[in-house]
Amino acid sequence: MEYRHTPVLLAEVTQQLSLQPGSIIVDCTLGGAGHAKRIQDLIGPTGTLVGIDQDDTALDAASNTLRLGQQTILLKGNFGEIDRLLTEAGLVSVDGFLFDLGVSSPQLDFPERGFSYKVDNPLDMRMDPSNAPMTARDVLAEYSESELTRVIRDFGEERWASRIAEFIVAARARRPIETTFELVEIIKDAIPASARRSGPHPARKTFQALRIEVNHEMEVLERGLRAAVRWLGPGGRIAVISYHSLEDRIVKNVFSELSRGCDCPPDLPVCACGKKPVLHVVTRKAVIPTADEIERNLRARSAKLRVAERV
Ligand SMILES: C[S@@+](CC[C@H](N)C(=O)[O-])C[C@H]1O[C@@H](n2cnc3c(N)ncnc32)[C@H](O)[C@@H]1O
Repeated sequence: MEYRHTPVLLAEVTQQLSLQPGSIIVDCTLGGAGHAKRIQDLIGPTGTLVGIDQDDTALDAASNTLRLGQQTILLKGNFGEIDRLLTEAGLVSVDGFLFDLGVSSPQLDFPERGFSYKVDNPLDMRMDPSNAPMTARDVLAEYSESELTRVIRDFGEERWASRIAEFIVAARARRPIETTFELVEIIKDAIPASARRSGPHPARKTFQALRIEVNHEMEVLERGLRAAVRWLGPGGRIAVISYHSLEDRIVKNVFSELSRGCDCPPDLPVCACGKKPVLHVVTRKAVIPTADEIERNLRARSAKLRVAERV
């Protein structure tokens, strides 16, 4: 299948990263290299592009799109391990980081991965199948009802989380839940018909929750952001595009914490914590796509871009 993915907020990202000829830029979520290609054009032949992705299909697609050579370093791995990946690549400091979170359109389309509730497939959902112990099927088989409720409520923001968990536990007692369509049916049974009539697909939130749990997306994101900030040289920028409120909250909190200085109690005469701000938040309000972009690319509709600069 052809790897086709339209980059979101492309002009805004490249502008906010202040790309200069010769810059060293790390794209932590390379995907089909939609952003990376434009970055490469703007940093020119003297610039260095490092592209990271945990998915082989994305790396293959990117290597067909990008100009390859010494100044282009493609790394297979998880951005939660930026320290190891960038050390192994021989980098010392970075001028800009991009995180464009979530799954790419082809991952949703590749049938065998089980990310999509629209096609019937085994419940896998691992973004890097070679390096993750648990599939979505394992989560559904092994988690207790209260753990399932927590995952579906916290990562799916699903109001019917406890009912869905209850139905999953009842269904798996009859036989193991193996495929996406089996899970969709269980979710449909759990959510009252009146609540299913409007809004998005009833399985959307539960599928999102399982994907986040299987890939530890929230922990990895926080670890990746903190590590990236340590690699940035002064004036270097970090740009993050998120697609749901949980991710956006983590980005906002990490940026806000790292942009605060001393947090000693106000009545302390001198600072005892010694904390200095390491970031300046460039986007006080998240940048969102124009109506025109959303019309051209529906996937952009929930995107939020936040940018910070190393001080
Ligand atoms: C939205 S796509 C990126 C699309 C890309 N910006 C483009 O324009 O083509 C997100 C990519 O990040 C990758 N990804 C998600 N989480 C990751 C992680 N923790 N470590 C490495 N790659 C990750 C996915 O495999 C996917 O290819």
